Order: sequence, then C-alpha cells, then structure tokens
Amino acid sequence: MNILGIETSCDETAAAVIEDGTHIRSNVVASQATLHAQYGGIVPEIASRQHMVTIVPVMRQALDEAGMRADELDGVAVTHGPGLAGALLIGVNAAKGFALSNELPFIGLNHLEGHVYAAWLEDVNPEASPGFPLMCLIASGGHTDLILMKGHGDYTLIARTRDDAAGEAFDKAARALGLGFPGGPEIQRAAEDSVGGEPRFPRPVVRNSLDFSFSGLKSAVARRAEEYGMYPPSEDAPPDAQQVANMAAAFQEAAVDCMVGRTLEAVKRYSVKGVVLGGGVAANSHLRQEMHKRVPVEVIVPRPALCTDNGAMMGAAGFFHFRTGVRSQWDVDVMPSLRLG
Ligand code: KG4
Ligand code: ZN
Repeated sequence: MNILGIETSCDETAAAVIEDGTHIRSNVVASQATLHAQYGGIVPEIASRQHMVTIVPVMRQALDEAGMRADELDGVAVTHGPGLAGALLIGVNAAKGFALSNELPFIGLNHLEGHVYAAWLEDVNPEASPGFPLMCLIASGGHTDLILMKGHGDYTLIARTRDDAAGEAFDKAARALGLGFPGGPEIQRAAEDSVGGEPRFPRPVVRNSLDFSFSGLKSAVARRAEEYGMYPPSEDAPPDAQQVANMAAAFQEAAVDCMVGRTLEAVKRYSVKGVVLGGGVAANSHLRQEMHKRVPVEVIVPRPALCTDNGAMMGAAGFFHFRTGVRSQWDVDVMPSLRLG
C-alpha cells in the first residue's frame, strides 16, 4: 500500500510516499527556517503564505522521487491538527483536492500520531520488537507529552507540560544566549564546545504528577545570562563563546534530565516494554544518549531527520489507519488544538 503523506502544521512544507507504513520511497521537506530566523520565531502569516507557494512543487517532487503516478497511490494522509490554523489549512486543502481529483481515499490525522509512527519507518518495527505497551515521549516546539500506547490507535495521555514545551525552552534559552533559531540544534552545537564548570540549572518538577515544567528552567537561563551581561545582546560586548558553550551544556543537561527522569518513572509505573521518542527535540544527541543509558527497556528513536517534522511520518501513520479501513469524510476541518489520548 502506497500512501502520500502531507505535513504543513508549522514551518516545514513536507510530502512523502510511504510503502506499507515502513518503507520510504520519497521524503521531501522544504524548511522555512531561514525565513523565520530573522524574527527569532515562527511568524504564522509568513508560514501559511510560504506553504501556499511550496506545497504543489513539494508534492510533485515527492511523487517524482518515488517514481510513481497519482493513480498508483492507495491513499492520502495529511496533518489536520494540532498546529497553526492557517498553515494546516494549506496542507489539508491540497490533500483533499489531490485525493478528490484522483479518486483516492483521504484521512486527516493528528500530527503527534505522526511523530509516534516515525518509529515504524525504515523497517524498525516496535510492535514486533519490543512489542506493546510502549511509552512515547513526544517532545517538540509545541508539545512535551508522555503517551501510553497499548496498540495501534490506542493512546492514553500520561503527562504533558504545564507551561513551555521542551522545544520552546530550547528556542528561548538559545535566544538568551545569543544563538540563532531554531534554538535546539544551536544549543546542541554550542554545548559540544563546553569545558564544564557552569553551575547546575534547576530541574523543575510538578509535585505528585509526571507532568513537565520548563518555564522555570528557561527563566533561570535568562536570569543568569543577564547577570553575566550576555542578555540583552549588545554589539559592543559580544558574549564570550566559551561561556555560551558552558551555559548551553548546563541548560541541555537540565532539560534532558527532566525528560529522561519523567520517562523513566513512567516506564516503571506502566510496566511498558519499550520507549518511543519523537518530535524535533528527539533529534537531540544528548537526549538520545541519556535515554539509551538510563532507561532499562528498548528505546526506539528515529534518525534525526525523521524526528523533526516531515511527510514520511504522516504517510506511516496513514497506513495503519487505512489498512483497517478507516478514512475521513471530505468535510474534515483543521483542528489547531487537537489532542492525542
Ligand atoms: O517536531 P518539530 O520539528 O516541530 C513541531 O511540531 O514543533 O519540533 C521543532 C522543535 C524546535 O523547538 C527545535 O528547536 C527543536 O524541535 N529541535 C531540537 C533539536 N532539533 C530540533 N531541540 C533540541 N536538540 C535538537 N537537536
Ligand atoms: Zn512536530
């Protein structure tokens, strides 16, 4: 079964052709990161306008690279939430138009479900090894969720963030340290040059809950950057690169410690057989290492390019719905606040 997966919920215009939920025949991602970088964050209006320009060429390229015609496809799967309303609209309408005109089944899916199903891509098969139940940590620019997955399509939300998402904390900490946008990869890169010695940052906890909280950590980084005279940025006194690297590493350690600690607790509490990592923050090398080191069950984490937003993950998620005969009605709408579990 060949599914065209489409994703436009945030700042990537993406389309992919996925065979049987696992094999990537093509995966095209047009990132808008450089367009938004000058504003230090995503500008929703610019995102939707750019999706409109890019969506058709990206879909065409995905078909070309897969060597497929539209009539060889078996379905179209698209993100219809959560995300930016104007950005979601472009993908949903492109997907509907394409599916209708080619008489293909169509399904609107939860973006977070896509991040979960990225773990099935490239012949990694979590349901065969290690098997259900799985604990999924989806950490992105908008979410930090622990989701218990007992089987396909069976999700229970175990924990979420009470304030900032993990990716948001990386982006804001990067800004306080004078690093670029998106902040996650910048923090990771800077942290590699750390020589250590920076005092620890706090690891905020929410009492009697597995929920996450990152705003205290983010504020602690901003306050210390102010104390060190690094923030607000000044052209006359650019920050010391070594100090930035040490701070980036200390922040990254704290953020990762929060995520691994909560996941470990959830693994024990729900006796799961494995952990699935997904979302842009799962691209973080320190998080990946620590999760493998500290969690006593199998950890399945897609390669970094499949952790950040892409169409392949939507094609994979689409397969698992289509194979049971599920599809959406044509009046399915965008749902910017859609939840999973
Ligand atoms: O899943 P994603 O591509 O888009 C959303 O659904 O939000 O996640 C984007 C987030 C951004 O906040 C970005 O800074 C973060 O993922 N990110 C990272 C890394 N790569 C991307 N965070 C930490 N380390 C990374 N290597
Ligand atoms: Zn995402």
